[in-house]
Amino acid sequence: MNAHRFLESNRGLWDEWADIHARSAWYDLESVRRGACKLRSYEVDEVGEVAGRSLLHLQCQLGTDTVSWARRGATVTGVDFSPRAVAVARQLAADTEVDAHFVCSDILTLPAVLTGTFDLVYTSRGVLGWLPDLTRWAQVVAHFLAPGGVFYVTDIHPIAEVLDSSASELRVSRPYFPRTEPVGYPVQGSYVDRDAQVATEVEYLWPHSVAELITAVAGAGLVIEFFHEFPWLDRPWPFLHEQEGLGWVLPPGGQGELPLFFSLRAGKPTAGDDR
Ligand SMILES: C[S@@+](CC[C@H](N)C(=O)[O-])C[C@H]1O[C@@H](n2cnc3c(N)ncnc32)[C@H](O)[C@@H]1O
Repeated sequence: MNAHRFLESNRGLWDEWADIHARSAWYDLESVRRGACKLRSYEVDEVGEVAGRSLLHLQCQLGTDTVSWARRGATVTGVDFSPRAVAVARQLAADTEVDAHFVCSDILTLPAVLTGTFDLVYTSRGVLGWLPDLTRWAQVVAHFLAPGGVFYVTDIHPIAEVLDSSASELRVSRPYFPRTEPVGYPVQGSYVDRDAQVATEVEYLWPHSVAELITAVAGAGLVIEFFHEFPWLDRPWPFLHEQEGLGWVLPPGGQGELPLFFSLRAGKPTAGDDR
């Protein structure tokens, strides 16, 4: 199987998950329709002011975060390769009377179907592992950023990605270093509902190291402003403990620490920055 076949399989899985997620309490679309903001306060702070700026949201899924950025005043374009997810996102934008544009495309081939540049490119929570090529991904981000524009990504930390997310104890069971071939994992429902009925049997994920991420972003000509690491995760893996207001953290009482989530912000230099 080449990358295209793995991506097609993953696309089918995301089409199935889109309908499950649209009905889920996790995404709670009804609360978004009533005005809830799905963005986390740390990312709102770290991204900075978006009012009056154009924002490209990569891997937007159901559009919950896209709508939230639009409500903060950004002119938003969401992109996802799942037609079902994009259909839900378009409906959510219509229901909430938010002016949002959505494109159905693989991120890595987006320049073939979308023109223009943006003040901000944003992507978050469960995105990197689905991408076969971070070098190309970072080039696409740089392609769509206007000079002086800002790129922001926040996701599961590559170190946390080596842990077995279904185990009841902390266990290192997944590769860390990048590889061309993805690793296939059996699908068990969805991360929002392990009992959901899903026909796709395998999800294909590409491991990405911190070094690969940083090198890809810098190699695309972006200037990294910060790389932040957080000791919490945004989802309830069985071996983690919920900490009110923070997320899921390592069990209390131990001395050990691990980064479980990260954020990275980078800028695209203007012509003047070269001098
Ligand atoms: C975990 S979700 C997005 C995260 C978002 N913050 C959320 O929770 O709704 C990952 C999304 O990436 C999309 N995706 C995966 N691989 C992709 C690719 N190669 N190109 C575009 N979208 C992709 C999936 O369809 C899915 O909607």
